[in-house]
Parts: sequence; C-alpha cells; structure tokens
Amino acid sequence: MNTQHLLASDSKDIEQAKDILASGELVAIPTETVYGLAADASNPEAVKKIFAAKGRPANHPLIVHIGAVEQLSEWAKDIPQQAYQIAKAYWPGPVTLLLSKADQATPVVTGGLDTIGIRMPAHDVFATLLKSSGMAVAAPSANPYKKLSPTSAQHVLNSLGGKIAAVLDGGDCTHGLESTIIDLTQKPFRILRSGPVTAAQLSETLGEEVLSPKAHTVAVPGNVTSHYQPNTRVRLVDLAEIESAKGGNIACLHISAIENQGFQSKQMPTDVALYSHDLYRALDEADKWGCEEIWVERPPISDEWLAVHDRLSRAQSKL
Ligand code: TXA
Ligand code: MG
Repeated sequence: MNTQHLLASDSKDIEQAKDILASGELVAIPTETVYGLAADASNPEAVKKIFAAKGRPANHPLIVHIGAVEQLSEWAKDIPQQAYQIAKAYWPGPVTLLLSKADQATPVVTGGLDTIGIRMPAHDVFATLLKSSGMAVAAPSANPYKKLSPTSAQHVLNSLGGKIAAVLDGGDCTHGLESTIIDLTQKPFRILRSGPVTAAQLSETLGEEVLSPKAHTVAVPGNVTSHYQPNTRVRLVDLAEIESAKGGNIACLHISAIENQGFQSKQMPTDVALYSHDLYRALDEADKWGCEEIWVERPPISDEWLAVHDRLSRAQSKL
C-alpha cells in the first residue's frame, strides 16, 4: 500500500483524510500528545485494521476520540458527574476518562472489555476534523506494538509506511507523551497511566483524592511492562555511572552537563515539559546511531516526572 503524505496545513488534505476515514481506512493523525492511528470508531472492520497494522493483540483496548462532550453518552453509560467536571477543566486536552462502555459501542474498540477510554484531543487539526465530521475516532499511538510512540509524521512513516492509507502531517506534537488515563469506574478514582495532567491536579479539580499508583499494577491487556522501546537496549543509569564510563559503543541521553566521555551523547532539557516533548524523538535518534546500548540518565524523582519515569522504566524492561 502506498501511504499518502497529507499536509494538515492544506484544507483539501484534511478533507481527504476525512474521506479516507469514512471509507474505512486508516490515517495517522497528529494529536497534542503523540500521533494516533485513527479509524472510524463506529466501523468494526476499520478498527480491526488498526490491530493488524500495529501487530497489536485484539484484546488490547483502544481510546475513542470525540469532538464534542455530547458524544460521551454515545460511547459510555452510567457517567458520573466527575467525568463532566474533568471534561470542563481539561478538555480538549490530554486526559482520557475510563468509563463503563455503552451497550451500543462495538466491543472491537474495547478489546471485549466493558469499560471504555474516551478523550477529546486538543490538536487544532484533529479537533476540527472530529467536529466537522461528527465522527468518533478510535486511535492508539501510531507505532508498531511495543515500540516508541511517534511525535512526528516522519517517525510514523518510518515505522508504519506502506501499512496505512495516509499520514496527516501536522508537525511536532506538543506534549510528546501519551495522555493521563483516569479510571472513573470505581472508587477511589485512580490514575491508570500517568501523563501530562497529574493526580494532584485531578484531585484538586474533583475535590477528592485520586490515587496514583507508583507502578501500573492494573491487570488490563495493553498495560504491558515492556513498551515504548527503541530497537537498541535501553538502560537507566545514574550520573556517577556515566562519569566513570570509559567510552564504549554507547549512546547517552543525559540531563547533567558531562565531560566528553568518548561516546555519542545528547543533552536533554532539565524542564520536564521540554524533556517529555523531546524524549521519544531523542530515543528514536539515538536508536539510529547504531550503538550497543542507549544509556539514559535517571531524571529527578518527583511527581511531575512520574510519566517520564513510567515510560523509561518500560523502555528498559526486558519482561
Ligand atoms: O495520548 C494518547 O492517549 C494517545 C493519543 C493517540 O490519543 N493514545 C494512546 O493510545 O496512547 P494507546 O492505545 O497507545 O494507549 C492506550 C492505553 C492502552 O494501552 C490501555 O492500557 C489503556 O489505554 N486503555 C484503553 N482502554 C482501556 C480500557 N477500557 N481499560 C483499561 N485500559 C484501557
Ligand atoms: Mg501506545
């Protein structure tokens, strides 16, 4: 299949992306978090193509993206009022609500689960596409199963080119890490995946505690330990180990200023938002240096770095 490279700056190309989705094919679309691999969520045959293109097991649930809050009730039922509070505070934006699945929503999207993840993306182009079509779109990150999520159209093309109908190029994603997922189906509410919006922020919005497990302990298909992986093995290391290393075939992503250690390296931002924005791109770049290992300097330990730690620990996991 020839993957079309469409431009989000061209309204004709956005129309074409819409037509491709309506015809049951896949388009990779920019969001404010990472690129999503989109299919019409109401078309089970189209959604099945997502699993095939990614090589993702069919029981791993997908997130449904909507353009208007009113669409929530088409996909979820027994919606608690806290869902609307979060929507009001953070949508459109990088928070996914986990709710009970509406009976009419196809189980292909949820991998057979009776819960469903829903969010309203903030990226202008995606938001416009959803609003003008009235469509709901199922979209996981646009990467092959377990690999790095793409934050640019070129990254999508490198890994899924030839397997999907088109990519809509909207430039770099703002956040660079996937949305926060909050489970509203049981009390106390809790974070299932940390992301740009923290548990503390959500607790404050709701006026009640939102649990934030330090590790993902929830047994849900798709919540796999090894994930977000470049092809080269990743190791989280402390500064002391970097400083005592004597060269070697190593790629190093460091935050601290280091002397030239004789290996390929890249200095990462100290600001957490900038670091998140650059992380997948930097891992993808380091992957291409052809080293034996990618060393990543352990970032500061604090709540705001939780999403980064989550992704890095999965990137280095051998499980
Ligand atoms: O930022 C994002 O959320 C991006 C963009 C494209 O919107 N999407 C994304 O989707 O990260 P994906 O499929 O790569 O990750 C979604 C994760 C799944 O791996 C699963 O762990 C969780 O969301 N999830 C989705 N539906 C769920 C459900 N019904 N129950 C539990 N977890 C669910
Ligand atoms: Mg993903």
